[in-house]
Amino acid sequence: MAEPLRVALAGLGTVGAGVIRLVEANAALIERRAGRPIRITAVSARDRTRDRGVDISRYAWEDDMTVMSERGDVDLVVELVGGSDGPALSLARKTLGAGKGLVTANKAMIAHHGMELAALAEQNGAPLRFEASVAGGIPVIKGLREGVAANRVERIYGILNGTCNYILSTMEDTGRDFAEVLAEAQAKGYAEADPTFDIEGTDAAHKLSILSAIAFGSTIDFASVETSGISRILAADIAQADALGYVIRLIGMAEADDEGLFQRVQAHLVPFDNLLAHVDGPTNAVVVEGNFSGRLLFQGAGAGDGPTASAVVADIIDIARGMDTGFEADRAFSIPVAGLEAMAVADSGTRQSRAYIRFMVADGRACWPRSPPQCVMPGFRSKA
Ligand code: HSE
Repeated sequence: MAEPLRVALAGLGTVGAGVIRLVEANAALIERRAGRPIRITAVSARDRTRDRGVDISRYAWEDDMTVMSERGDVDLVVELVGGSDGPALSLARKTLGAGKGLVTANKAMIAHHGMELAALAEQNGAPLRFEASVAGGIPVIKGLREGVAANRVERIYGILNGTCNYILSTMEDTGRDFAEVLAEAQAKGYAEADPTFDIEGTDAAHKLSILSAIAFGSTIDFASVETSGISRILAADIAQADALGYVIRLIGMAEADDEGLFQRVQAHLVPFDNLLAHVDGPTNAVVVEGNFSGRLLFQGAGAGDGPTASAVVADIIDIARGMDTGFEADRAFSIPVAGLEAMAVADSGTRQSRAYIRFMVADGRACWPRSPPQCVMPGFRSKA
């Protein structure tokens, strides 16, 4: 039998516990598909004693997660700690620097340091994979890296944050207030540790910048994503949109053309007859338009333990398969880092779209805008 792939797990929150459950429940089929057993050997988290509903007593424990890659019984580290810097980044650098594999669900870290980590992976012949960092259980990164590898991608857009989608669709269904529904999304484990990342669009912007890099062969440019969120949307806006034939969804969109790269995360009015209008709850949906593939829709659970663990373990299987034949250590972003292009930022001021703007008007007095403008599905018709 082939040697097992020995895995260390850093972070035992919702997703970490999900990975343990999945690796145990599907051990036999994972072994057949990976060509070798996947064995968790060591774990680390903030609190050793917390009840996570999984038995961690059979794994070695490390108080300091950043030393996990130094262990002789670890071939690959799974980072599920989160945070763009701090221990997560330190662990990632050490793991790749030691020539070991890294699987991460950390979109903030990849959005900010993905180029550095991919270069480190290449230099050390270490595989770096981050499918779970974008859209939970949906294999959209694999779809872009492999499925549409032959295409020039013209545009990519969709619903990239489960928390916002849960909030907007629940407000729509129940007429309840934003704050109450946000608390519910947090209790269900969809939201980030800091939910402002969700509701102000930052989380979706992290994910969009990662997808853009793979789709367009560009270096990651998180800083240029024009970002706004949903925190100022009222039940009244949702009711008004409904009366006009729309739902409100937070949409991330990226396009690359002669003007450069355009990336934006913004609330949009989506017409009832558009597929994205029917994406409810914490579901994500990503549309990729390739010049030969045409329009592809990737849809599924964007958050939650099972779906995110599914993406994490798919990456582990990928790496296990490459142990005999050689890892694709220079393909984390589809193209080796040196070949990625730093694209100009397209001027958003020249883009035309229709907008919905709400005014609160005091009778007989001046009026003032209260909500940020929300686009009405920008230019979608032009390429439909
Ligand atoms: N907070 C994220 C979301 C989790 O709501 O989509 C998955 O990335």
